[in-house]
Amino acid sequence: MHERFARSAWFRRDRFGMFIHWGAYAVPARGEWVQSVERIGIEDYQRHVDAFRPDSFDPGVWADAAVAAGMKYAVLTAKHHDGFCLFDSQLTDYSTTHTGFGRDVVAEFLDAFRTRGIRVGLYYSLVDWHHPDYPASGDPYHPSRDDPAVRGRDQIFDRYLEYLHGQVRELCTNYGTLDLLWFDFSYGAMRADAWRARELFEMVRDLQPGVLIDNRLEASGTDKGSIVTDHPTPFSGDFASPEQIIPTEGIRTPSGEPVPWEACITLNNNWGYNAFDTAWKPAELIVRKLVECVSKGGNLLLNVGPDARGRIPQPSLDILSAVGGWLSDNGESVYGAGPSDLPKPEWGRYTRRVDDGDREVVYAHVLEGQVGPLALVAFDRDDIEGIRLVADGSDLRIADGWISEGSPGLTLVPFGPEAGHTYPLPDPVDTVLAITLRRHS
Ligand code: GLC
Repeated sequence: MHERFARSAWFRRDRFGMFIHWGAYAVPARGEWVQSVERIGIEDYQRHVDAFRPDSFDPGVWADAAVAAGMKYAVLTAKHHDGFCLFDSQLTDYSTTHTGFGRDVVAEFLDAFRTRGIRVGLYYSLVDWHHPDYPASGDPYHPSRDDPAVRGRDQIFDRYLEYLHGQVRELCTNYGTLDLLWFDFSYGAMRADAWRARELFEMVRDLQPGVLIDNRLEASGTDKGSIVTDHPTPFSGDFASPEQIIPTEGIRTPSGEPVPWEACITLNNNWGYNAFDTAWKPAELIVRKLVECVSKGGNLLLNVGPDARGRIPQPSLDILSAVGGWLSDNGESVYGAGPSDLPKPEWGRYTRRVDDGDREVVYAHVLEGQVGPLALVAFDRDDIEGIRLVADGSDLRIADGWISEGSPGLTLVPFGPEAGHTYPLPDPVDTVLAITLRRHS
């Protein structure tokens, strides 16, 4: 098994994390790509950088929201594509510690989340729209790509690479143990060797031996890089990072080795705060998508975009607490759980876990109301030691009597007292049954 599998044990157990996109783009409030989309030059963008003086920034409040949601790790944008840093860097003044805001957001974030027992990661953008040596003209995304003034500008990309490597060194040196590093992203010729990825990986592994690293030094949210091949490069990363999509069948290499992965998903349609985007995903959908990820061997990194005052939007907080409510009842089917090798049942999904007593437990996530008892098609009733409704711990019987006589060989489970009863589901979002299997000697 690939070493990334051992390294990612905590990650594959924790399953659910918080992504935090925050920076000066919260001020224009039109998403974190606003500078590129609207081709805002550095001088004009400065207005937003100067105005970014959040009076309600309290990462303890963010961390409490993550705890309430049942999230086990969190990843903050230390620097996004606009190049504005949320940490103190010797290599630039373009950071929150040098503006009127005057605080090291990264340090405060790490402290607040660690204190609450949440693992911590940092996102670092490989792309940089502020550094003078990052290519502007000819680049598909740079805000000044069409500005004639930058054409022919004397640029030395190696100087940018020194800066990038230097800042990553700072993050890996000045902030204690990091659990995860999330580089973003590669495109066109800007990938792998262009970033001096091998050297960067060696430095990071040297400074932070246990840290997990994503796959985007050679990939993006859509392409996956060599991590999904049988011959990954040394800088292919520890997990794949599909963006705004959940892979149809999880991720494996051609020879069948499972690849750790994490789907990153927004709560509305933006990463950075967008005051105009009210397309919030309902909590029910988030619960079901989290379960879908786990059932396919993956994680969910769910995003929040705090506003220019530092507050996570209320609709996001409401969704997070509803998801957390479901998880506090049903978390054992998610944390430490993964795919089962049973075919997907027509009424929902299965996850699977080995419990503390070393017994195999299959979790039936029932998403669709039933007429009559639930059919556990994949199970022989003799293999089942017991079935429990996870939310309240009550024991469920396997149906006997007239209804099962009509379907010999089918394992039927009613939720009600009568053999034929099941509708309505105890939890319309996802009713979870723990099916403990008998030990075969
Ligand atoms: C992207 C985007 C970005 C976002 C991210 C999250 O590639 O450029 O704005 O931070 O991925 O996955």
